[in-house]
Amino acid sequence: MGQNVVVSGSGLYTPEYSITNEELVDSYNRYATRFNEQNAEQIKAGTVSELPFSSAEFIYKASGIKSRYIYQKEGALDIDRMRPKITPRTDSELSHQAEIGLAAARDALQSANKSAKDIDCIIVSCAYTQRAYPAIAIEIQHALGVQGFAFDMLVACSAATFGVHRAFEMVKAGTAKTVLVINPELVSPQVNYTDRDSHFIFGDVATAMIIEQAETADSRHFHRILSTKAVTQFSNNIRSNFSYLNHATDLSPYAADMLFHQEGRKVFKEVCPMAAAHIESHLGAHQLVPNDVKKWFLHQANINMNTLIIKKLLGREADREEAPIVLDTYANTASAGSIIAFHLHQASLKSQEYSLLCSFGAGYSIGSLVLQKE
Ligand SMILES: CC(C)(COP(=O)(O)OP(=O)(O)OC[C@H]1O[C@@H](n2cnc3c(N)ncnc32)[C@H](O)[C@@H]1OP(=O)(O)O)[C@@H](O)C(=O)NCCC(=O)NCCS
Repeated sequence: MGQNVVVSGSGLYTPEYSITNEELVDSYNRYATRFNEQNAEQIKAGTVSELPFSSAEFIYKASGIKSRYIYQKEGALDIDRMRPKITPRTDSELSHQAEIGLAAARDALQSANKSAKDIDCIIVSCAYTQRAYPAIAIEIQHALGVQGFAFDMLVACSAATFGVHRAFEMVKAGTAKTVLVINPELVSPQVNYTDRDSHFIFGDVATAMIIEQAETADSRHFHRILSTKAVTQFSNNIRSNFSYLNHATDLSPYAADMLFHQEGRKVFKEVCPMAAAHIESHLGAHQLVPNDVKKWFLHQANINMNTLIIKKLLGREADREEAPIVLDTYANTASAGSIIAFHLHQASLKSQEYSLLCSFGAGYSIGSLVLQKE
């Protein structure tokens, strides 16, 4: 049967800087005005497309996002640059992604009442890693002084839930005792701040969770993972093509299709029913129905997606208590959104109450955890 596996702690790193919709739109619109003036002749001749203006009201209405955090604000709003300026570090310095991952990891260790000696596996799971190797997870392992093993994995928007899925299976199988899963979502370098359709979507953050056996958990609040469920289905509707192959293909790493781009409407239409069906079947495997779930820690990409999914499941809208929203201030943080919602809102759950944590997005990929508070 294996062990009872629990989430015994969680952690959050929130960057110092943030960008409001108004600031973002002001910068983009100044960029678009200058672009259109400089390309007036080609636009008139039809050889270059005019850049349309962005609007803060549209962004809030279409997505629920009011602002987003960013690791380095400098450069992102500068119309001569339109990308954050991140100072390179030498090989002997801590990497940027390890730094934010460590901050979330330390917070999670504290909340689970654990120290580095209790951890025997670290998984860094996120949408992008800043290098191929050595793994960011091994760098964090070294910085914390953890004995055991560590590895990185990438599953875009579902990286966090798929990471917990691996941790759950390892603890269940006894191949690891206490796993630290970290999601350092440093996504702003992949945002195309010159693209009106996507410039508002993402924010930076890092989250972490401690997964271990119920018998060793020493925190005041912990949640049993009843099971995990994952599904993937190929789609080109959300893509990032930036690659180590750029060095050999002669394609510019700055080209628009190297950065995050999507067919937002199609994603919305296709992913919502997939996610609702996935959640229903996952709950059904435990003889649970959506009405048994006290809190919904859903992926945070778009408030309208969450409203639609909850309506499909419950037949009614849920309030913010039941289905917490963090994307108003954090925006879409790739895989970390549902973990932020859990971290900030799990404490009010009572003993034996069920919650459902679910990610959905690029791949497509969907990952869920059915949780019960101990
Ligand atoms: C991206 C998203 C917020 C866009 O909202 P939407 O309601 O689908 O908006 P659309 O893209 O259909 O655009 C509607 C109109 O607003 C315009 N528009 C797009 N961005 C705009 C902006 N920043 N400011 C003003 N207008 C904008 C569009 O050009 C379009 O104009 P048109 O009707 O004249 O063609 C939404 O589709 C979404 O969230 N999809 C799911 C995304 C997702 O979860 N992705 C996962 C990534 S990990």
